[in-house]
Amino acid sequence: MSHKVKIAFLGCGMMGQSVHLRNFLKMADCEIVAVCDQRRELAQKVAAKHGIAAAFASHQEMLQAVECDAVVAINYPHIHYQQVMDCARAGKHSYVEKPMAMSSADAKAMVDATRANGVFCMVAHMKRYDTGMRLAKHIIDEVKASGELGKPTHARVHYFCGDWIAGYNEPRVTVAEANPSGGYPLRRPEFMPPEHTQPWWEFLQQFCHATNALRFLWGDPTEIRYARWEDFVRQPGRCLAVLHLSDVSCTFEAGGMRAHFWDEEYKLYFEKGWVEVKCPPPLLQQTPAQVEVYRADKPAFERPVAAWGWAFENEARHFVECVRDGKEPLTSGADTWKDIYLCEQLYLSHQEGKGRELTYE
Ligand SMILES: NC(=O)c1ccc[n+]([C@@H]2O[C@H](COP(=O)([O-])OP(=O)(O)OC[C@H]3O[C@@H](n4cnc5c(N)ncnc54)[C@H](O)[C@@H]3O)[C@@H](O)[C@H]2O)c1
Repeated sequence: MSHKVKIAFLGCGMMGQSVHLRNFLKMADCEIVAVCDQRRELAQKVAAKHGIAAAFASHQEMLQAVECDAVVAINYPHIHYQQVMDCARAGKHSYVEKPMAMSSADAKAMVDATRANGVFCMVAHMKRYDTGMRLAKHIIDEVKASGELGKPTHARVHYFCGDWIAGYNEPRVTVAEANPSGGYPLRRPEFMPPEHTQPWWEFLQQFCHATNALRFLWGDPTEIRYARWEDFVRQPGRCLAVLHLSDVSCTFEAGGMRAHFWDEEYKLYFEKGWVEVKCPPPLLQQTPAQVEVYRADKPAFERPVAAWGWAFENEARHFVECVRDGKEPLTSGADTWKDIYLCEQLYLSHQEGKGRELTYE
């Protein structure tokens, strides 16, 4: 591609303005050619603030009017579905916030539509672009191959959330009109009763991050042995599960707490040590996840340091490179639909009170 990557930007809410738009605007080899928000005045004000040529209130209108290589859509999963389908039909690559969709059926339909039109959809699972997470993955692969810590014995996901904003206070444009995001009917998996749709949305919003990160670090789970919510409707964010990976069992602790920090850890135990990674609050900029390696033979705790950087910025850079070079992104929809599938299987395992084999079909 000889010209700058042309991006049409959709969704000027909190994450749109405060995180994604500012990251794309920083890149010299990409140009934001239009912004869109259902609140037209918001789109117009954001366009004026950043000197962007065009503003729209509907993505269909924008797709027809503007020449672009790709669309970045920062809304909610039930809204992304239609937007990605329309982008694919228009032959545009797309980038959406997580969760990718409200059901694995929707997510697969999105992947099929993008493939049929020769484009891709990338899902903004930024943790895979965190330099600390990537360092942890590299070390895990190395010690598994060398056998220096013995065999893996157990994996543990602990994701209790906390303060995700971490004092972030970037000013953003606002308008009086109410945010319409909550006004759309939530889509849901066909097997789910309507009264579970809202708690399902709440669970998926947060914990698709955990499934995506664990798959990145350790591979796709092969089985759910146990999954239990004490109260799915009232406390959808509290789930305890046991998964099986190709070589070890994995405890999955999803919870929530009030804290001035962010409580999210992935730990792989070996016969003679462990590799652990602790994620930063998502909006804490330039701060990678912290890695710890414990080696019982020495004995020693090692804390290798990853390069400074913000996962969200690295992921925006990756998207632009993939559009420019025509390559499949690391967090493409073709991989990420598995997170929606995995969350569905946790739900079904809980409902049925028994384990489930994971086929990814
Ligand atoms: N990666 C992370 O750590 C992280 C953190 C927070 C939120 N998120 C995700 O970011 C997404 C967006 O969150 P947010 O806080 O920016 O939401 P928001 O409600 O602040 O913004 C959404 C914007 O989309 C606009 N909108 C709604 N429907 C539209 C439509 N059909 N067409 C065009 N514009 C439309 C709204 O007017 C609003 O400005 C969510 O999916 C959420 O899960 C991710």
